[in-house]
Amino acid sequence: MRLVVLVSGSGTNLQALLDAQAEGAPIKVVAVGADRDGTGGVVRAALRNVPTFTCRVQDHDTRADWDAAITRLVSAQAPDLVVSAGFMKVLGPDFLAAHKVVNTHPALLPSFPGAHGVSDALEHGVKVTGCTCHWVDAGVDTGRIIEQRAIRVEDGDTVESLHERIKVEERAMLVEVLSRLAADRTWRTT
Ligand code: GRF
Repeated sequence: MRLVVLVSGSGTNLQALLDAQAEGAPIKVVAVGADRDGTGGVVRAALRNVPTFTCRVQDHDTRADWDAAITRLVSAQAPDLVVSAGFMKVLGPDFLAAHKVVNTHPALLPSFPGAHGVSDALEHGVKVTGCTCHWVDAGVDTGRIIEQRAIRVEDGDTVESLHERIKVEERAMLVEVLSRLAADRTWRTT
């Protein structure tokens, strides 16, 4: 299954996919795209000779122009599926009309959507949080849930310590979900 992976940060979820691919998972990362310069994700891709591109909102006149540009860049790779793995932009209507997109989120949706899922959960005082893999729709973290994993919040957890524990589960979840979606392609027609 051909994947384009979109990143904004360190790219450890991407790395998990690249490692799973190397170990024989039925996925192939054909390109990695970023919305900003200097992401760890682009470096990780380059180290595995995976083509990369950067498409920044500020280089376009309008958000719609950016959406059209990133849609073209991704479409050129003819992916079966796009993975938003720590990609911190909301994809627009052109993109979502052209591609099926899976996102990973560091909280148990529908609780704590948005860019601060880990800190919002911690501040709320929940005892259990986790991660969610879901289809992307026009909303922010509102699409149909595919898989979730729960993580206990420990006394003394900081945003960083909690996020690190979530990310261990998140990476495993993402690899498992994509392997499952590669094996059963019925989602292509739904
Ligand atoms: C992940 O927890 C993702 O869900 C969140 O940001 C983190 C990205 O981590 N939006 P990485 O860049 O894959 O290491």
